[in-house]
Amino acid sequence: MDLIVRGGSTQDLRKWLFAPYAAPPTSSPARGRIVCNCFDVAESEIVADLASGLDLAAVQAKRKCGTSCGSCRTELHRLQGQGASKTFKVDPEVKTRIKSV
Ligand code: FES
Repeated sequence: MDLIVRGGSTQDLRKWLFAPYAAPPTSSPARGRIVCNCFDVAESEIVADLASGLDLAAVQAKRKCGTSCGSCRTELHRLQGQGASKTFKVDPEVKTRIKSV
């Protein structure tokens, strides 16, 4: 109520209007879109693991994503492809050959 009286935005509080809490929760970080529903694995967690250098098999071993129904495997491979394209490094020898052609 104070927020409304002060003229602040209530946009972020609307989803908590009927929640049985005195205040919206503050300790749960936003995880983003869930890619693997079987094991509740978020896209942000997969991307972070891939960015840390883990390959897809290691991510699956760590989080179990893609190891049950398998419906998320296409998305896992897509995320792996995105990570690989961001960190793809061309072998210097190949670069030299490309320049000489
Ligand atoms: S949704 Fe990922 S294994 Fe089922």
